[in-house]
Amino acid sequence: MDFELKTLTPARICAEKCDALIVLVAGETGAGTDAVSKMVTLALKAGDFENKAGKLLSAYRPEGMAATRVLLAGAGDGSAKSIRTAVHAAMVALKNTNARRVLLSLCALPQAGQETARAAVLACADAAYLYSTTKSKPAEQKLKQVLVAVSSLAASRAGFDKGVGLAKGLALAKEWANRPANHATPTMLAQAAKDLGKLPGIKVEVLGPKEVAKLGMGSFMAVAQGSEEPLRFIVLRYDGGAKAEAPVVLIGKGITFDTGGISIKPAAEMDEMKYDMGGAASVLGTFRALAELQPALNVVGLIPACENMPDGRAVKPGDVVTSMSGQTIEILNTDAEGRLVLCDALTYAERLKPRAVVDIATLTGACVIALGGVRSGMFSSDEALALALGAAGDSSLDLCWRMPLDDEYADGLKTHFADVANVAGRAGGAITAAKFLQRFAGKFPWAHLDIAGTAWKSGAAKGATGRPVPLLVDFLLSQVQSGRAPAKTRTPKAGARSRA
Ligand code: BES
Ligand code: MN
Ligand code: ZN
Repeated sequence: MDFELKTLTPARICAEKCDALIVLVAGETGAGTDAVSKMVTLALKAGDFENKAGKLLSAYRPEGMAATRVLLAGAGDGSAKSIRTAVHAAMVALKNTNARRVLLSLCALPQAGQETARAAVLACADAAYLYSTTKSKPAEQKLKQVLVAVSSLAASRAGFDKGVGLAKGLALAKEWANRPANHATPTMLAQAAKDLGKLPGIKVEVLGPKEVAKLGMGSFMAVAQGSEEPLRFIVLRYDGGAKAEAPVVLIGKGITFDTGGISIKPAAEMDEMKYDMGGAASVLGTFRALAELQPALNVVGLIPACENMPDGRAVKPGDVVTSMSGQTIEILNTDAEGRLVLCDALTYAERLKPRAVVDIATLTGACVIALGGVRSGMFSSDEALALALGAAGDSSLDLCWRMPLDDEYADGLKTHFADVANVAGRAGGAITAAKFLQRFAGKFPWAHLDIAGTAWKSGAAKGATGRPVPLLVDFLLSQVQSGRAPAKTRTPKAGARSRA
């Protein structure tokens, strides 16, 4: 889908030929004399239209307008959130029409700016997204072109561009999380990363079983050993900053299918465990967006990718393995596999001398119970990093909520047979999982995002959401603007980014 930004006068909006004109209406509307403004004023006066976010009024070939269809879309208070609701509603209404070219007018918004332009573009792209990879006759994407009309280019340009870049990243993240596991194996995921390596500023390196064994990633290997699919450890680099600048590291859980292993999951809805690489997908999507936006900073993405399967060779409950950190782990439940692949990636991250590490994982059902699908769970050992992630969630409308990390939550991870067990009791399951990870993240400012509830929608609109790509991108961009590491624990050294 193609996006274009233009300044248009009310008269030009009326005269512009398009399949559909969407007019966002918020706050007080002026008494314009053009056909669109008259329609808005009349409809509001008659009570046939309200500018509450999500309310619509549609017309077909109205007099004085060149558009085939016109949709007035209520945009409430004109906030980014209301814009998202409004554009989404309008796009849904257009879904079963033949509209190929849409004109989206933000001109009547009282405070149109960067945030509103971005929200409008993202909502458009989100509503138009169509999964088709594994259909024999893919449905045609009818909507080809969206022209966004604003009253001031300067006030909207940066936000618009951000939205367009972000939309590409979101689409990639959704695509991979939606793909069935036989179309998204660790090897295929690595190939998707390699394809990103063709974009400006991005380099990709992929490690296989031999290299991973050499690194001593015994915990990651234990999860992979029950599957016929060979594991992959994917390393992506985006180099936009100075050579000596310490990178921000993103680690994405890449379980391409989670059966639970020998601690097998119930059959109902097990198909949804194909999105257990949602964290990995969000890292790929973020790198896609970085390639578009080209911010001045260095980012490394790490993706431990494998399947979690039951098998004659699979790891068994009670087995003790040695992680890359040297810590031994008693695997009491093979379904708590995410933390087992992430802990070795966290140890690997140490050699990158990062300024911050954020891991992103569909880690626990407990987080779905705690926060549902509205906010991702955010855990951090570093105040500045937690603040930056919270702010990025707010500004991108991709919300998260900080959860506690009191040491008492780690008590249940104690065991007689190893340094740590991989599960505690049922209580506080999202937190005990984070406490397990924290043991491997002592050497850098660290945060963990549990996206089990936010990366996927169940029910009628079943599918990947692409979250938390918007949060991650806003977080990374904030790291450029502040020009500082989120914590002052480490000064970047020359050669800090030397290769592993
Ligand atoms: N991938 C799951 C977590 C999950 C559950 C993601 C539901 C999305 C939706 C994870 O590997 C898992 O199985 N976690 C267990 C942990 C338990 C064994 C301590 C869980 O949440 O039940
Ligand atoms: Mn599991
Ligand atoms: Zn899992």
